[in-house]
Amino acid sequence: MSALVHAAILFASFRLSHCQNTFEFSQSNFVSASDGSLTINSTVLLNDGTSIPLFGFGVYPLRVGEETENAVRWALQYGYRHVDTASNYGNEESVGRVVMNSGIPREEIFITTKIWNDDHGYEKTLEAGRASLARLGTGYIDLLLMHAPGEQTVTTWQAMIQLKEEGVCRSVGVSNFGVHHLEELHKTTGVTPSVNQIELSPYLQRRDIVDYCQAHGIALEGYSPLTRGLKLKDPILVKIAAKYPGKTTAHVLLRWSVQQRYITIPKSGKEERIKANIDVFDFNLDEEDMAELETLEEYFLTDWDPTVDEWKP
Ligand SMILES: NC(=O)c1ccc[n+]([C@@H]2O[C@H](COP(=O)([O-])OP(=O)(O)OC[C@H]3O[C@@H](n4cnc5c(N)ncnc54)[C@H](OP(=O)(O)O)[C@@H]3O)[C@@H](O)[C@H]2O)c1
Repeated sequence: MSALVHAAILFASFRLSHCQNTFEFSQSNFVSASDGSLTINSTVLLNDGTSIPLFGFGVYPLRVGEETENAVRWALQYGYRHVDTASNYGNEESVGRVVMNSGIPREEIFITTKIWNDDHGYEKTLEAGRASLARLGTGYIDLLLMHAPGEQTVTTWQAMIQLKEEGVCRSVGVSNFGVHHLEELHKTTGVTPSVNQIELSPYLQRRDIVDYCQAHGIALEGYSPLTRGLKLKDPILVKIAAKYPGKTTAHVLLRWSVQQRYITIPKSGKEERIKANIDVFDFNLDEEDMAELETLEEYFLTDWDPTVDEWKP
């Protein structure tokens, strides 16, 4: 049997199992402490039956080598068990080295990486996914994301499904997908991504994408949850932070994100901040704070926005 026929059969059987999935998000997708509160161990159950830690650590743009290795080592030391990297960040090797030398069992650490735009298309994506795993050296990738939609989104997605079938990754998802991209993917392949990683903050709430994902069983992962530091002096955040002893405006943004049940992946290269950022599970923003934060929407982007077609590389 040719490799192509084999891939087509695998894809058809995967598609069948996912098409029968009428998965929708509800509170039961969030595994928390016995009293229902969120903790650093809280996880989100994905539509393929695997689970992802709600809180994680982003490693863009940490440089390969010492900078990434120190940061990931500190993150693991302070209790993070989820690292978000990408082939485009150039630091997969460093992430993998620290994870594998950490002494923590591999299955206790969740690793995401991504297929970069230049690697779209069936064959290139297969190669890129396998190369990412080789650089990581972690045995498998927990979650493989398509970094952004492009002109070959469908064949790229089919190759990612093949990589899952091969065991290169356990789950497949997308990043920076708008509603029309998600609809197109579903219409052409019938296979729903497990995750959509998009920029999310009180200043960029993306209600259309959030509503669509929640209705279709796609877990939401929010990147740049700290607005890359750009909004940390906002007087409204300062006022809210002052209500909670020992909490900063960074804590308010991170707590907003986890309270929305968004998978949350702040980045820092500084030990003190890595330690502090995880400290968001001992307080709760009240209804009044959440309502005030909701008023901050202003389509504030820190970087690119491939969810819209107007964005060009
Ligand atoms: N899929 C995508 O297209 C995409 C795009 C962007 C990001 N991401 C992922 O999301 C992760 C996080 O997003 P991000 O790095 O763009 O932004 P972010 O996490 O919102 O912010 C990171 C910035 O905030 C600073 N910072 C961290 N903690 C702080 C604190 N407690 N107080 C003050 N400043 C603090 C960091 O500086 P120091 O390092 O100096 O502490 C850094 O400049 C990335 O690392 C990456 O994994 C994905």
